[in-house]
Amino acid sequence: RPFQIAVLAGDGIGREVMPEGLRCLRAAAERFGLSLQLHEFDWAHCDHYLAHGQMMPADWKAQLSGMDAIYFGAVGWPETVPDHVSLWGSLLKFRREFDQYVNLRPVRLFEGVPCPLTGRRAGDIDYIVVRENTEGEYTALGGVMFEGTEREIVVQESVYSRHGAERLLRFAFELARSRPRRRLALATKSNGIAISMPWWDQRADAVARDFPEVALEKHHIDILAARFVLQPDRFDVVAATNLFGDILSDLGPATTGTIGLAPSANLNPERSFPSLFEPVHGSAPDIYGKGIANPIAMIWSGALMLDFLARGTGAGRAAHDAIVQAIETVLRDGPRTPDLGGNANTREVGAAIAAHLAG
Ligand code: NAI
Ligand code: MG
Repeated sequence: RPFQIAVLAGDGIGREVMPEGLRCLRAAAERFGLSLQLHEFDWAHCDHYLAHGQMMPADWKAQLSGMDAIYFGAVGWPETVPDHVSLWGSLLKFRREFDQYVNLRPVRLFEGVPCPLTGRRAGDIDYIVVRENTEGEYTALGGVMFEGTEREIVVQESVYSRHGAERLLRFAFELARSRPRRRLALATKSNGIAISMPWWDQRADAVARDFPEVALEKHHIDILAARFVLQPDRFDVVAATNLFGDILSDLGPATTGTIGLAPSANLNPERSFPSLFEPVHGSAPDIYGKGIANPIAMIWSGALMLDFLARGTGAGRAAHDAIVQAIETVLRDGPRTPDLGGNANTREVGAAIAAHLAG
């Protein structure tokens, strides 16, 4: 049975980079004998909201439930629809309703991309941030009391479940075990957040017993952020709660050049629901319509998708590696979009990567 993939381009440059993502997906699928069935849906964008008062049709979940994966561009058009409406009406619904509890962000420095950290070269930065994506600090539990008075207070709870923490940690350990360096760093803050963070440390120690091959290190989040900048070469897999992971997974890609390169995966590893693959960047209204958006984050996200979908067969990993290698080659030799100092357009970069893929 072919892999069923929902295609949602979204807003702004999501619509410009998606065709290049699909072009490269098709090229990789053909070369590695993967069978894909692509289903394009014309919703989860702000024009849909303007026409219907909602980002998605009422039966969106039924429409997507038979899919193996969602390939997503970017959502948001703040000029016409407030960002919290567009984001909560689409992307955040997918993450929660489809229990995509792992947010995966590879961070890698490529040759040909100027690095904002001095003295770093390609190969020095190559790690993956694994962020808990469904609970933690991002709850709506809390409130304001005595509002408008001298006594005003605000409370917002963080919620961690044993189930939620251990499944995330288990995923991170498994990922670390599958990589040559077999190292896992855990973001913690057990010196300051004295109840929940020591609890996380204990959860990690408990799961670690099943992974004796993996070296576990705990870092307080403050020094961990500093080490992302000062010693990025020491990291391999980095696991973190929702908030810490959110911050780290923007900081990491920022140390490797352009936001137009960073991919992400929102995974439901058990495959009870479709997982979602998308570039980290948004709809970039400032460059939309010029055809100059960098398609690499979209294309790399497609590589993560094939790896996840076809993990069992080996062809998924091979397709992933071939796409990343084609990206590597194009970053080194060109063509490049303007965000990387070049003057090529979105299509030219996508076509160049697809050509390398075809061999
Ligand atoms: P953004 O990521 O869209 O843009 C930030 C800056 O990076 C802009 O200067 C943009 O031109 C540049 N940029 C982004 N992607 C690029 C690419 N592929 N090639 C070249 N340059 C690129 O973030 P911003 O401006 O804060 O948000 C714009 C809209 O996107 C908002 O509605 C926001 O809510 C939404 N957004 C959606 C996300 C998603 O769908 N996951 C993630 C981030 C923002
Ligand atoms: Mg963020």
